[in-house]
Amino acid sequence: MSEIPRKSLILSVDQKFGNIIIPWLKEQNLIKTEFKIITHQLKLYIPIKNLPENFSKKKEKYSLETYSIDSKESQHFLQKKEKKKKNSLKDLIKLVVPSELNALIPRSFDILGSIAIIELNREEHLKLRPFIFKIGELLLKNNPHLDSVYEKAGNIDGIYRTRHFKYIVGKKSTITEYRENQCRFLIDIERTFFTPRLAFERNRISNIEINLNSNGIIWDMFCGVGPYLIQIARKYPKNEYIGTDINPDAIRLAKQNVDLNKMNKYNIDFVNLNVANIGENAYHYKLKGKVVRIIMNLPEKNIEFIKILPEYIHPNGCLLHIYQFNEKREDPLEEARKKLEINLTKVNLKIVQILSSRIVKPFSPALETTVIDAIISK
Ligand SMILES: C[S@@+](CC[C@H](N)C(=O)[O-])C[C@H]1O[C@@H](n2cnc3c(N)ncnc32)[C@H](O)[C@@H]1O
Repeated sequence: MSEIPRKSLILSVDQKFGNIIIPWLKEQNLIKTEFKIITHQLKLYIPIKNLPENFSKKKEKYSLETYSIDSKESQHFLQKKEKKKKNSLKDLIKLVVPSELNALIPRSFDILGSIAIIELNREEHLKLRPFIFKIGELLLKNNPHLDSVYEKAGNIDGIYRTRHFKYIVGKKSTITEYRENQCRFLIDIERTFFTPRLAFERNRISNIEINLNSNGIIWDMFCGVGPYLIQIARKYPKNEYIGTDINPDAIRLAKQNVDLNKMNKYNIDFVNLNVANIGENAYHYKLKGKVVRIIMNLPEKNIEFIKILPEYIHPNGCLLHIYQFNEKREDPLEEARKKLEINLTKVNLKIVQILSSRIVKPFSPALETTVIDAIISK
C-alpha cells in the first residue's frame, strides 16, 4: 500500500476510472502485459512495472492504491495470461516474409465485420509492403469469417470524416455488417464514418436512465450510419428520434440499419442534411423547441454548432452529450467543461447539471476525446 519506487506493483483503481488510468499507464508503457487486469468488488487491479510519473497528483484525484507485487494481498490479483493457442498474426506472417523482417511484423490487425484492415504503409513497416498480398491471402485462409482484406491508405479526413482504403485481396466490397451491443450495422468502411472504438461509449449512453418528456425528440446531429440512435431506441422504443448527417451514404445505410434491426415500427427518421442549414429546412419546424436530448459527435467542430441549439431545445431543458478533443497536458475534462460553458453562455444557455464527464479515448499524442453529459436550458 505504500509507494515503492522502481519496482513492480499492483495498482488498484475504481472501475469507473479505468478509462482514464489504463490509457495513462499504457502511454508510459507501464502495464505488465503478461498478467491479466483483475476486476474485484468494483475495483481494477493492474500489474505495473513501476510507479507512473506524477503519481501523487493522480493518486489523490482517483483514489489510487499500490501494493508491492510480492505482498500477500497481491498474489490474489496476479494471474498470468494464458498463451493463445491459435497462431498469432505474427506467427502466420513469419511463414511468408524473410526472417530478418520478423521484428517489423505488426502484432494485430483490425477487423470490421468480414473485412480485415492492415496497415503496412507506415515508415516502420515499409519493408514488409512487397509481401502485402501474400499476407492478405494468409489472413483470408486462416480466418474463415473474413471476406476481404483492405489496407488503410490515409487518415480520417474531410467533411464526411472518412478515409481511403486500398483493396488487397478477397471480395471487392467496402460494405460489411458489424455487430455491436446486440445491434447490427451495415457500414461502408470507405464512404461512411464508423469506429468500433466507440462501442463502450454507445452502450453507456444508451443505458443512461432519464425521464424524458414524452413529447420530446431525441436528435443525433451527426448520426453517421445510426449507431447511437438505434442503440438508444432499443432501450426507449416509445420515444421519437431524428438523426441528421451531411453524408448521403451514411443516411442511406442508417435507414437500412433500421430495417436490419427490425425497428421499422419505431419512430426513427434519418435525414440527409447539413446541420448548418437546418434553419432553411422543413426539419427546422419539426425540431423547434422539442428536443429533449441531443448527441453531438463531431468533436472537431461541435463547439461551432452550439449556436444553433437555443431554437431547438425544449423549454424544460435538454440532455446534451457533447464530444470534444481536449489537451492531454492540462486537465482535459476541465478544459471541455470550460469550453462548453463559455460557448453556451454566448448564446444565453446554461448548464443546469453535469451528469457525468469522461475521457472516451485518446485521439492523438496530444489530445483526448472527451464527452460531457449535461442538462442544459435557457
Ligand atoms: C465523427 S462522425 C460520427 C458518426 C456517428 N455519430 C458514429 O458514432 O458513428 C461525424 C459525422 O458528422 C457528419 N457531418 C459533418 N459535418 C456535418 C454537418 N455540417 N451536418 C451534418 N452532418 C455532418 C459526417 O458526415 C460524419 O458522419
